[in-house]
Amino acid sequence: MSEPNILLNVNGIEVIYNHVILVLKGVSLTVPEGGIVALLGGNGAGKTTTLRAVSNLLAGERGAVTKGTIELRGDRIEALSPAELVKRGLIQVMEGRHCFAHLTIEENLMTGAYTRTDGKAAVQQTLDKVYAYFPRLKTRRTSQAAYTSGGEQQMCAIDRALMANPTMVLLDEPSMGLTPQIVGRCSRS
Ligand SMILES: Nc1ncnc2c1ncn2[C@@H]1O[C@H](COP(=O)(O)OP(=O)(O)OP(=O)(O)O)[C@@H](O)[C@H]1O
Ligand SMILES: [Mg+2]
Repeated sequence: MSEPNILLNVNGIEVIYNHVILVLKGVSLTVPEGGIVALLGGNGAGKTTTLRAVSNLLAGERGAVTKGTIELRGDRIEALSPAELVKRGLIQVMEGRHCFAHLTIEENLMTGAYTRTDGKAAVQQTLDKVYAYFPRLKTRRTSQAAYTSGGEQQMCAIDRALMANPTMVLLDEPSMGLTPQIVGRCSRS
């Protein structure tokens, strides 16, 4: 059972790909409510795998958590589908942007609010907030994502996650493609 101020508790997980490739062994970490935790490590260290384990995106990669437990606010979540995890406010921004190319920037952002049930006004408020984080996106709001730059697509992917009004965001390589000024501003705010 987690302590009350622990948002995420990953306890001794093991991850195996393709039934044989052992990639994570005994990985444990906790994220406190309101806290930020960074995973650092060389290429192939297992950062992406750890995030995929938490958001239950391993199955699509023929991977599985074979030992250990993962708790969100004290509830075991290993068996929950990625969709159920999103409904609980756990949102992953995968490495490599993954915007809907044929939708505009604003349409992409609105897809992030799909699971919300707190009404249009609240969603609009969040939209204003995320545009304030990345004003560049507001100027590109009617552009098709396919025709925006790599950095703009990365901003869009991050803001789309925030549109869900999440409890927790898992960011894989969040600064990829962003200018140092924006990275610096994000890490200060
Ligand atoms: N789908 C997969 N099938 C088999 N092995 C995989 C798969 N995905 C990752 N791996 C292996 O798992 C290990 C960890 O990979 P992972 O992508 O988690 O590392 P990472 O820390 O995110 O690295 P990077 O900094 O390069 O993004 C690597 O040895 C990699 O080859
Ligand atoms: Mg990675």
